[in-house]
Amino acid sequence: MAINITELSGAAGAQIFGLDLTQELSVEDKKALKRAWKDHMVLLLRGQKLSEDEQERFCRVFGEIAGLKSQNSDSKFLFVTNKEDPNVATAVQLGEMMFHYDQAYSEQPCKASTLYSIEIPDVGGNTSFANCCAAYDQLSDEWKGLLETKTALNYFNYDTNPSLRPDKIDPDAPQYSHPVIRTHQETGRKSVYVNRLMTIRINEVEKRESDRILDFLFNLIEDPRNVYEHVWHVDDLVLWDNRCTAHARQHYDPQKRRLLRRMTILDENPVA
Ligand SMILES: [Fe+2]
Repeated sequence: MAINITELSGAAGAQIFGLDLTQELSVEDKKALKRAWKDHMVLLLRGQKLSEDEQERFCRVFGEIAGLKSQNSDSKFLFVTNKEDPNVATAVQLGEMMFHYDQAYSEQPCKASTLYSIEIPDVGGNTSFANCCAAYDQLSDEWKGLLETKTALNYFNYDTNPSLRPDKIDPDAPQYSHPVIRTHQETGRKSVYVNRLMTIRINEVEKRESDRILDFLFNLIEDPRNVYEHVWHVDDLVLWDNRCTAHARQHYDPQKRRLLRRMTILDENPVA
């Protein structure tokens, strides 16, 4: 069966038809998937009944498995949910989550993330994906020039509400500075590499100027013309490029269970 690719929005994302991920993929299918991923940044495969091994096999098409960096765990999978399960590594997160790149606070954030949906509330909890290459392309030459040499501190503290930017930084919490403008090592495209959840400040300017620049960049990234909003169905597998798309979770009823299985793929360090 031939692979079929349909765009999901004008901003980013494509749905892949004609693949059964419980079966070994052909060399041609893997090539087509990688090409589609470069072109569309976010891939969706629906109606897949995937074991952990099958999700891992899919991830290995795109690179090495990253394992968990975000918690003290050897597990390769992280269950993103609103209900703790003592038997597996869970990230218990309630409600809305601002736009972010996974692991942006670490030296080597993952290249890609996958989420496989197991249980989904009937309303809400959508995941939005922002095309940060498009955001870069929309910058004026003046902005591009200003940002070219800048770096920003990304920070995350699991002990505080992750959806609030803290005023004070805990020196022991995960944090790392990356270029504000990142060049994609495969496509050569530039993207805006800051995010509302984790980017605290631009290092080379005063705090007020940093806040002004960051507000402008966050709003640009999150402009609806740059965003694909994904409405989850059970058995969806979504892969996104964590180098050039930021993602956010929309609000949902905390009484309704939401359970997704995340596996991430390794990257080299971000380069300007
Ligand atoms: Fe995330």
